[in-house]
Amino acid sequence: MKRKLRIGLFGFGCVGQGLSDILDRPESSLSIEKICVRNREKYRPLLNERLASSQEDILDDPDIDVIVELIDDHVAALDITRQALSRGKPVVSANKRMIAGNLDTLLDLQREQPHPFLYEAACCASIPIIRTLEHYYGPSEISGIEGIVNGTTNYILTRMVRNDLSFHDALKLAQSNGFAESDPSMDIEAFDAKFKLCLLATHAFGVVVPVDKVFNYGIGSISKKDIAWAHSSGCTVKLVARATRNGDQLSAAVLPQFVPPHHPLAGVENEYNGVLVHTPYSDAQFFHGRGAGGRPTASAAVADIAAAASRYRYGYDKVNALAKPDFTNDVFLRVYCRYGDTNIPRELPFDTVEQYFSDRQYNYITGRINLETLVSSEVVRNPDVFIAALPAA
Ligand SMILES: NC(=O)c1ccc[n+]([C@@H]2O[C@H](COP(=O)([O-])OP(=O)(O)OC[C@H]3O[C@@H](n4cnc5c(N)ncnc54)[C@H](OP(=O)(O)O)[C@@H]3O)[C@@H](O)[C@H]2O)c1
Repeated sequence: MKRKLRIGLFGFGCVGQGLSDILDRPESSLSIEKICVRNREKYRPLLNERLASSQEDILDDPDIDVIVELIDDHVAALDITRQALSRGKPVVSANKRMIAGNLDTLLDLQREQPHPFLYEAACCASIPIIRTLEHYYGPSEISGIEGIVNGTTNYILTRMVRNDLSFHDALKLAQSNGFAESDPSMDIEAFDAKFKLCLLATHAFGVVVPVDKVFNYGIGSISKKDIAWAHSSGCTVKLVARATRNGDQLSAAVLPQFVPPHHPLAGVENEYNGVLVHTPYSDAQFFHGRGAGGRPTASAAVADIAAAASRYRYGYDKVNALAKPDFTNDVFLRVYCRYGDTNIPRELPFDTVEQYFSDRQYNYITGRINLETLVSSEVVRNPDVFIAALPAA
């Protein structure tokens, strides 16, 4: 009888437990042999016999075939990944922060070590988007990607729109339903979406996008007034991650967007994610599925474990190609900007103004602005300001 593939698991939180729910069945061909957690003293029924005594207990075990890294510490995750690959063990990870922040290092490591390092679960949970971008689309076949890639913010925006909730009430609802962490800042401020966008851009365009240069602007300052304004212009509000190729230039940013009802992303609700891949010759393809949660995320890890067992690796053909676009923030966007302090329009120079409104309670301006202006402006850190992208005119 064929022996089961043996997994050494790091992390037994939301996704680690989701993996155990999927794999701990007699008919499964994959077996979680050892589990390493941060706090061994925490009460975990039925887990004790599999708890590893240390990181090395898993990494040095010759009977462990694949390392699955599902921890919430990006620094420790990089260390585990490095050590596992250098010991000849394939690694499956869901840690978008660790991967996006260290992609150059991880690419070098993969050139030195021939062992698979796969991370489908790091982007859009259940949607098989990384392998699709990597292998289905050729080097110049994608002109842009845009997506709702963060389930927490999409849940909050959906509840604000559907239930007429304030941001704070919608956030509380997300937390009580398990769709937002107690410290939701990485999601709310769009860092999580930015990490995912960087990974998607690497596999779509071959560009290792510098994470700190990509503009991320979240939904923490959104108000009911902004949602009402979006409705009055026939739109809904979504947090959209977008990377666009224009000849030999690539721009990327994450910010709220007023989305018209006919747009595929308008129908992506709650914790679901959606990614639209634009191509020059076949219009666009739309991928939709659960973007968060233990089992949906773990299902992508299961697919990666099976792929790693057959020695599948990302080819990074686009990354290794000679002709690749250069990253730039020198592009123009149409935006809506609501503000309290009437000095804001002077501090945030628009290239062209389309609408300007001001009364004692509500001021806003719409128009065209250079993305570089947003990247370098302090205005984006003002809690009394909300900025959203408008559909192209
Ligand atoms: N939750 C989602 O929907 C989702 C979706 C996509 C991707 N992800 C990614 O999946 C990963 C796990 O997320 P999660 O939601 O499952 O996190 P979580 O519920 O907070 O659980 C984190 C787990 O990591 C363990 N841990 C932390 N540092 C460790 C270390 N140095 N060594 C061993 N174990 C350590 C913790 O141990 P203790 O239990 O002892 O504290 C805990 O079991 C993260 O990278 C996250 O970004 C999550």
